[in-house]
Amino acid sequence: MCKKDQIQTKIIRVDADRPDDRLLESAAMALRKGRLVAFPTETVYGLGANALDPAAVAAIFQAKGRPGDNPLIVHVTSIEAVYALVDAMPPIAIQLFAAFSPGPLTLVLSRSALIPDLVTAGLDTVAIRLPAHPVARRLIDLAGVPIAAPSANRSGRPSPTRAWHVAADLEGRISYIIDGGDCPFGLESTVVDVTGNIPVVLRPGSVTNQEILEVTGVLTVGRQEIAESSLVTPRSPGMKYRHYAPRAKVLVAEGPDPVARAKFAGSMTANLHLLPSEIGYFGCRRFINLLPAQQKVAYGDEPEPELAGRLLFDALRRLDRSGVKVIIAEGLPEHGVGIAYMNRLRKAAGAWLVKGEEDDDQ
Ligand code: TXA
Ligand code: MG
Repeated sequence: MCKKDQIQTKIIRVDADRPDDRLLESAAMALRKGRLVAFPTETVYGLGANALDPAAVAAIFQAKGRPGDNPLIVHVTSIEAVYALVDAMPPIAIQLFAAFSPGPLTLVLSRSALIPDLVTAGLDTVAIRLPAHPVARRLIDLAGVPIAAPSANRSGRPSPTRAWHVAADLEGRISYIIDGGDCPFGLESTVVDVTGNIPVVLRPGSVTNQEILEVTGVLTVGRQEIAESSLVTPRSPGMKYRHYAPRAKVLVAEGPDPVARAKFAGSMTANLHLLPSEIGYFGCRRFINLLPAQQKVAYGDEPEPELAGRLLFDALRRLDRSGVKVIIAEGLPEHGVGIAYMNRLRKAAGAWLVKGEEDDDQ
């Protein structure tokens, strides 16, 4: 970006639990005027704009370098506010909102005429989320408009879970960064399409398939299974782009337990022929302690997908900053939040890249 095109980004530090309205007011005003404001949510930091203002929404795509065919999530703070934005509210959506909102759940519903085309990338559906984070909620209420917000990273980079992650990607491109500390979940929301007969999980997150099944009594079907059985045509444009990529190459060490995974990581390390300082590791302490690492980030003593997910994006960015060429991350079993964790890790490792579609992300 040219220096002359840069704008001054103000960083405002607020209390995560009880943000002061006087600190948030100018950012809320900026949102009303069509400017961009990054703010914390319980999942990741979002890059917000007035969802009803097409020029403001266009500015999100510009600041992120995001492809225009990848739709945005609209954030509101009450179920009443959702009704204005959708055409229909199926019973399953009411059940899911009641059980998991406010929280890390996004529902894809058929859109109302109020939503600009740019928000949905021309789809006839809109993704809606009620965040739980007090700063997000207060900012949206003060702005008085629904807020369209993708994750506040440059396209293709790991999602931001700390204010400095946002600053590293977007400083000079957006008006405000509200620093509300670390995001408690650290992985983006579970996205569920509820426009058909069965709820379809388009992106796994901290609300798990099992939890959705318990609430709705209907078995959710993952994208992969859907694509294979061609029951429904999944439309989740974001899935095809490159995501979560640090500069370093990411390798995943999978295996039945931390010792087996560390053994695998050890053999990968030997084959890389790099200096010890050029390789970073991420995993639980039982995994990390078995490796001859100089650069390492541990999230806890034992394998624990919630804790791993909370730290994953921060670890990728921190290891990147330390200058390593390769990051070896511990794989975890794919159940519960482990599904979301492995989904992000595999994408960071590039395992899901489709040839010819490697340009960029969400
Ligand atoms: O936790 C989160 O969801 C964060 C915070 C800021 O709320 N937001 C976030 O937004 O992760 P983003 O734009 O990075 O990811 C949104 C995902 C993309 O994969 C996009 O393709 C999908 O949701 N999506 C949005 N609208 C959709 C729609 N109408 N139909 C299908 N997928 C949609
Ligand atoms: Mg994103």
